[in-house]
Amino acid sequence: MPETSQDRTKKYLDLGHSEAENHAKTQLELYEKHVKDTSSVTNVISEFFKTNLVGFAWHYIKSRFGPRHPYQSYPRNGDSGVYRLQSSVPSRNEISLALLSDWASDTEESDKVAHLVARYAPDYTVHMGDIYFVGSPQEVEANFTAPYASWYYGASGSLALSGNHEMYSNGNAFFKHLLPAMYIQEGEVRKTQQAGFFCLENEHWRIIGLDTGYTSVGRPFVEIISPPDCHLKKEQIEWLRDVVKIGDPDDKRGLLFLSHHPYISAFREDYAKPGEQIQELLKGAERPVIWLWGHDHRLVIYNQGKNGNGPLAYGRCLGHGGLPVEIKMPDPNDLERIGFYDRRVRTVVKRHALGYNGFVRLLLDEQNLRAEYRDLEDTCVFEESWTINRQNGQLEWKILQSIPELAVR
Ligand SMILES: [Fe+2]
Repeated sequence: MPETSQDRTKKYLDLGHSEAENHAKTQLELYEKHVKDTSSVTNVISEFFKTNLVGFAWHYIKSRFGPRHPYQSYPRNGDSGVYRLQSSVPSRNEISLALLSDWASDTEESDKVAHLVARYAPDYTVHMGDIYFVGSPQEVEANFTAPYASWYYGASGSLALSGNHEMYSNGNAFFKHLLPAMYIQEGEVRKTQQAGFFCLENEHWRIIGLDTGYTSVGRPFVEIISPPDCHLKKEQIEWLRDVVKIGDPDDKRGLLFLSHHPYISAFREDYAKPGEQIQELLKGAERPVIWLWGHDHRLVIYNQGKNGNGPLAYGRCLGHGGLPVEIKMPDPNDLERIGFYDRRVRTVVKRHALGYNGFVRLLLDEQNLRAEYRDLEDTCVFEESWTINRQNGQLEWKILQSIPELAVR
């Protein structure tokens, strides 16, 4: 239906006072439009079951062959990849981020999660990897760039990490279509995301997005059975060492890492190598870090732990963004590594019990960092906070709330 002059008047009357407010309103309008028309979903969640081997194999075979997209690193187009965290509302001190992993599946569930994110209007949004099935241009479009796509673009920044699925199509659409749509706001300047890793920082915290996706694929087919080690490539290591200066012993800001691949997993393969590379860059400093990842399609709060010679980490798995959420218990030997785990059954599809999709909302306020784990019904299932001691780099951790079902014992 064409826009009438009354509609236009209403739109101007509704104009907010800040760019961020207008931005949030535009996103909300898209959401309301979407609620009226849900036909834009291209997949149903059952297509993503692990048993759907034929479906997956077809996408995989179509995309897997050919050369890998060249790696992109900083400096690139005058960009260092290190950005100052900024609130999109000048009068507000608190900075918010929404983290979504394994979200890009273009299902009703992923739309629901994204629309919930929109209601919170976070300053930053980060997709922590895996665009299903193979990160093709059409899949990037359906989830992120089409007018009907439900991804919420944060007013201060919208960033993406690569998972393994982006690399099943050699990273071409990730580098050529997704990164050009992603950006960071620095003051009045909007910069396009230049590489698959980044650092957001202020006086108290450094949020470092790591690229583990590029090195998560090897030879076609072999990589599925025996995945490569997800090491940080030389360019990324040099950036962490020389630009981020992560090893500066006088810098005791809180460190929060984001990656697609798990540093620790009680369920499937985990990857010690990136952690060991980081601990080497930290020159073996005994300071705990916070590390959030995806890849495993579930929500797990791990007990503080290490993998190999990596750092001591508060590890969290948030791979429950959009795909069927798994709720099985791990091997009994691995159970002690888990603090909390969302095993609630949301629905049963084709005799598979599925858990709740959701996202994490991070709130930074001076030395405090709070994390709210929200499911697609907007229930905050777990909430925790860390306080960084800038004198010694230690973290004080507190559980603020947890629903009883998340307890594993
Ligand atoms: Fe993955």
